[in-house]
Amino acid sequence: MHELVLKYPVASSCRIVTGNGVLDHFARFAGESMLMQTAVIITDSNVGSLYAGQVAGNLATAGISAEIITLPAGENSKNLESVTAVYRKLAELHADRGTEIIALGGGVIGDLAAFTASTYLRGLPLLHIPTSLLAQVDSSIGGKTGVNFDGLKNQIGTYYHAHLVVSDTAVLSTLPKIEYINGIAEIIKSASIADGELFSLLEGNIEAVLNRKKELLEEIIFRTIKIKGQLATGDERDASSRRLLNFGHTIGHGIESATGLSVRHGQAIAVGMIAAARIARKLEILGSNDLSRLKNLVSRAGLPLRIEGLNPEAVIDAIRYDKKIINGQVNFVLIKDLGNSFVSQEVTPEMIKTALLEENE
Ligand SMILES: NC(=O)c1ccc[n+]([C@@H]2O[C@H](COP(=O)([O-])OP(=O)(O)OC[C@H]3O[C@@H](n4cnc5c(N)ncnc54)[C@H](O)[C@@H]3O)[C@@H](O)[C@H]2O)c1
Ligand SMILES: [Zn+2]
Repeated sequence: MHELVLKYPVASSCRIVTGNGVLDHFARFAGESMLMQTAVIITDSNVGSLYAGQVAGNLATAGISAEIITLPAGENSKNLESVTAVYRKLAELHADRGTEIIALGGGVIGDLAAFTASTYLRGLPLLHIPTSLLAQVDSSIGGKTGVNFDGLKNQIGTYYHAHLVVSDTAVLSTLPKIEYINGIAEIIKSASIADGELFSLLEGNIEAVLNRKKELLEEIIFRTIKIKGQLATGDERDASSRRLLNFGHTIGHGIESATGLSVRHGQAIAVGMIAAARIARKLEILGSNDLSRLKNLVSRAGLPLRIEGLNPEAVIDAIRYDKKIINGQVNFVLIKDLGNSFVSQEVTPEMIKTALLEENE
């Protein structure tokens, strides 16, 4: 078991517990972090049938009653209609500020439940049980909440922190492979920007990671959580250090938009990372050996190096509309070597296009 306490600039802190089987002790962790009497578990149709009973049962043994709200699984649920449905249910249940919201699921449920918790009665206490790899290493950390609006991703949202995150690596055994690989892409990202040792660990053990070997997974997940935690607490609102987490994401989001979200997030950011590394190579910031190592790891993880039939112009158009562009300048994350990154304003659309068109180097 590993543990970490993050201190945020705004007076709140978040305890993160991760390890194999930690969910069995969930009520104890929850009890240690706040006096809980009632809880509402928000989950989705896949995760709920697998784990909601276990969580509610665990709470019951500690004398805490829990209601379960289940939404259909998938990104389509991440909208204001679902939030309204949850608000109604909370009103029906007479939820008050002593009611704990427990987000049990992947990033979709995490973002939606956290948004709901942050707005209902101006804030209910929130606790995350992330169940997808992506949610464990990324979305449950850092306090961003959100829902999609009129086709725009995460257009409506708040910053709101859970006081406890319980990440059980055991639940990953039921995660579909494609979702698992999606999460690996974020782990490779974090290693590339901030932890060269983690990168080497992945390189040496990627097959075991793909086979979800327990001890290894615990170590890798904990290290990745630490990176996100440190970068996100360094700056809460998207400036400086937090920007480094966007490695591969400027192009990745462009690819997602240009392909009408038919390319999965992990695949899009994999291609985005490779293109960003090619740009860094061209600028003679990154060595050719590091570029090859990144390409190798990405492809051994089952992620693509390029997307067939991708139109780079459409990607660039989408990047121009990205909310991270300020005064026409792209804040683009480049790596200097594996484990070191910085934000550059030098990257032009032309460079992005060339990098996306390159097949071999
Ligand atoms: N808040 C943030 O900082 C942040 C960061 C990154 C991504 N996100 C958001 O996260 C979302 C993506 O998250 P995601 O990839 O977890 O998607 P998701 O929540 O849709 O989960 C992926 C799929 O896996 C299933 N699933 C999850 N855990 C499972 C388990 N243990 N066993 C079986 N099935 C399981 C889900 O039901 C779903 O079908 C996006 O909406 C994205 O915007 C937010
Ligand atoms: Zn991402």
